[in-house]
Amino acid sequence: MSQLKCIGVLTSGGDAPGMNAALRAVTRCAIYNGIEVKAIYRGYKGLISGEIIPFKTQNVSNIIQQGGTIIKTARCAEFATKEGRQIAYDNLKKENIDALVVIGGNGTFTGARIFAQEYNFPIVGVPGTIDNDLNGTDSTIGYDTALNTIIDAVDKIRDTASSHERLFLIEVMGRDAGFLALNGAIASGAEAAVIPEIKTGVNQLEQLIQNGFRKSKNSSIVLVSESEGGAMAIAEKLRKEHPEYNLHVTVLGHIQRGGSPSAYDRILATRFGAAAIEALLDGQRNVMVGIDNDEIVYVPFNKAIKSEKKLDSNLLSILAMASI
Ligand code: F6P
Repeated sequence: MSQLKCIGVLTSGGDAPGMNAALRAVTRCAIYNGIEVKAIYRGYKGLISGEIIPFKTQNVSNIIQQGGTIIKTARCAEFATKEGRQIAYDNLKKENIDALVVIGGNGTFTGARIFAQEYNFPIVGVPGTIDNDLNGTDSTIGYDTALNTIIDAVDKIRDTASSHERLFLIEVMGRDAGFLALNGAIASGAEAAVIPEIKTGVNQLEQLIQNGFRKSKNSSIVLVSESEGGAMAIAEKLRKEHPEYNLHVTVLGHIQRGGSPSAYDRILATRFGAAAIEALLDGQRNVMVGIDNDEIVYVPFNKAIKSEKKLDSNLLSILAMASI
């Protein structure tokens, strides 16, 4: 893309640890290649309200280790309207921004795809979400850190679970995807995971609990994905059938989105940021940067957001075998 003089960069949707590392890489790789950078605060909301600030290399100093996003983030209903997108486009023109790098998840890329088509505007996406629910990339920025936060919390809860001989249902995030619940369960040595991709009826769960909690173990941990009522709903049903269970629920909540990014997420974010600029320089547009077997790939927005990302169902059997 020979006309690339200035890019805009924003973070949007739920924050994820490593977004700052991505912002740093995008900013510095762009400047390294002679491209001006403008940071758009508060995602699409700031694009519409015109919160746009030129960034130099110093603006992204000392942020690689910080969780959250220094340029803030938001979920923006106005960008879902034609009128909102028109204002956004006018602001991009006013600011002489030739292309956008958007760091976010499903909602961010859905908005980007519509906008890019409507205005024939070049956009490259960087996957930043703890949910790991984008198709075409093995991992998203923030997922590894969130997994580490989950296992740290579960390790602590396990101390109480085993001391008091309790059964804990621990609810984790992931929206409609079970990656955090399933891999969190494997990594923390939990007995089971309840995930949206593979339906586990309360009866099946009872069976699992009877086999573990009742048979050979005094305590038990089940990770439950937040979708479909989450851990509270399951606990209610289980308590009705088994008032004898010493059952407790912990909802981990937003603790999973915070904290300093892991080494893996910092490296991934830096590679993604550099790849986003490379893509724009190569004239690519409307693609998400991804990683596949440790190689950078470019995935069209359509593919990244449309189809459900496959979760390896073998992992559930591995979890079951490893937790007897
Ligand atoms: O997409 C990231 C995520 O943390 C999901 O796991 C969760 O469902 C959602 O965002 C929560 O969003 P909010 O912080 O806006 O309530």
